[in-house]
Amino acid sequence: MDLKDYIRVIEDFPQPGISFKDITTLLNDGAKYRQAIDELKELVSELKIDLIAGPEARGFVIGAPLAYALGVGFVPIRKSGKLPYDTIEIGYDLEYGKDTLAMHSDAIKPGQNVLIADDLLATGGTISTSVELVKKLGGNVIGTAFLIELVDLNGRAKLDGIDVFTLLTY
Ligand code: PRP
Repeated sequence: MDLKDYIRVIEDFPQPGISFKDITTLLNDGAKYRQAIDELKELVSELKIDLIAGPEARGFVIGAPLAYALGVGFVPIRKSGKLPYDTIEIGYDLEYGKDTLAMHSDAIKPGQNVLIADDLLATGGTISTSVELVKKLGGNVIGTAFLIELVDLNGRAKLDGIDVFTLLTY
């Protein structure tokens, strides 16, 4: 079975019309979880990465092990109100709903090469907001990496000029 067979698709969650890609079934299998991270690592192997940033919550599950595998630091991008120190924050629209993302204001040093990693690229709202946050701190976004891309939602259009690396497409 390939990696895609380990993604469980739930129709009409969390709202009618949304076809939710449930990655918990992949995470549940140690060998397949490791394979997914190893393959993502391979996809970005040409990049000179200083830090990986990942948006809460599923971006942690992909970004943190990728950072560990590459031997680079990890920066959490969190929903508003969760980070204890000085933050910068930006509001955005989700595929379903609205939210605000935040980063610690000292999380990135100007000029550092940052790869942003997440489980899923859908409308691109989360990733483009993450890109804005990293840029605001002076970081150089050298790419974005995803386990899954929902191609029809065309999230890539919000990322013009930034490389997009994806393992699985729907
Ligand atoms: C999901 C997913 C991505 C984002 C993709 O996160 O993990 O971060 O939506 O959608 P977009 O491309 O349309 O922005 P969600 O905000 O549901 O948070 P969670 O990871 O905490 O469940």
